[in-house]
Amino acid sequence: MNILLIGSGGREHAFSQKLTQSSLCSNLFVLPGNAGTSQLAKNVAIDNTDFPAIGNFCLEKKIELLIVGPEDLLVKGLRDFFESDPQLKEIAFVGPDAKGAQLEGSKDWSKAFMEKYNIPTAAYRTFNVDTMDAGIDYVKNHSLPVVLKADGLAAGKGVLICESNNDAVNELKLMIQDKKFGEAGSKVVVEAFLNGIELSVFVLTDGTNYKILPSAKDYKRIGEGDTGLNTGGMGAVSPVPFADAVFMQKVEERIIKPSILGLQKEQIHYTGFIFIGLMKVYDDPIVIEYNCRMGDPETEVVLPLIQNDFAELMLATAKGELDKIQLQIDSQSAATVMLVSKGYPGDYEKGKRISGLDLVTDSMLYHAGTRINENGELLSNGGRVMAVTSLGSNLKEALAMCMKNAEKIQFENKYYRKDIGYEFI
Ligand code: AMP
Ligand code: GLY
Repeated sequence: MNILLIGSGGREHAFSQKLTQSSLCSNLFVLPGNAGTSQLAKNVAIDNTDFPAIGNFCLEKKIELLIVGPEDLLVKGLRDFFESDPQLKEIAFVGPDAKGAQLEGSKDWSKAFMEKYNIPTAAYRTFNVDTMDAGIDYVKNHSLPVVLKADGLAAGKGVLICESNNDAVNELKLMIQDKKFGEAGSKVVVEAFLNGIELSVFVLTDGTNYKILPSAKDYKRIGEGDTGLNTGGMGAVSPVPFADAVFMQKVEERIIKPSILGLQKEQIHYTGFIFIGLMKVYDDPIVIEYNCRMGDPETEVVLPLIQNDFAELMLATAKGELDKIQLQIDSQSAATVMLVSKGYPGDYEKGKRISGLDLVTDSMLYHAGTRINENGELLSNGGRVMAVTSLGSNLKEALAMCMKNAEKIQFENKYYRKDIGYEFI
């Protein structure tokens, strides 16, 4: 089977590794991929916003399975484009259509969805330019902190936690009137702050059946001790020690089942990943957000724990046959540490030579922002450069191995958090 995977991060390198381990995979193409995926698959240089070009590529290469890594193409309707074409719709597709991708693409839509199906989430109201006065009134009198969220995709920057009502009023105006986040902020969700511990749960669904993948905890802040700016994620651990069977039972009954049923009732045939961002408040799971994809770097700890044939799992997802699959999960713990460029998450350095990969033993390296130049040298090419993943009989062991190997990889001004998973060891 020929497979096309879309994306270019550590997540896609981890997907590539799993897919190429499958005997079902004859050829893997990654669009656009990175230096890591180029060692396992064929990178494809097509503009990913050019849907007809992606379609033509699939027909030319006889692609039978298409997996979409990032959210934006799903929100923009790549799947709808494939479904509207008699030949392309035959390709098994992992990822929801534009309607399903609203779980991530519109916070207002996903909040209304949760309200409608009684899925626990923070109390909220949504405002736009026509309801500005009511919005100002609402945030002026809201308990603190108050959370403001741009409705649409804002590259992970659209969430503001305001410590004063005045700040909240100003930010609301900046978002709606001054278009601080562009059109993504033309509607703003204002919601109550949840006090608790964050974790993520990943669900794979074929629209009817679902499988719950290992839970994960992501470390979003740039600085040790969870300080400084938010990043895409500086490291992750899986499974999350406090997400025990009792807690996961609550997640399944209160959140996963009603979410899958709700999608069905909304006539959304959702096939793909649902990433549920949760807050554990006392002992209860409350939804912070949904994403319509896997997380990065969460994928770099979740996928290594999945022992199934991954191409078979993806195909079953696309074809509505997940009931035929028994998930096999490794009982070990996984940890990943992201090596990042100086300046990240602001403007960062690029083009630094990377060395030391051959010295790494007992860890997996997932390239994120890397490329190979004309001389065959490996260079940094993004803020997040490479994830170092290790498995161990417990988190402490896995983390120690990550730290040992993170040190061996060299590039100028490399930075990584040495305290990933600190609260569990
Ligand atoms: P989101 O883009 O919705 O994941 O929000 C980004 C981050 O903001 C989350 O990962 C949380 O750390 C934080 N956050 C979002 N909503 C809330 C909330 N209601 N209460 C507390 N923290 C929140
Ligand atoms: N690591 C968070 C995300 O993928 O959204």
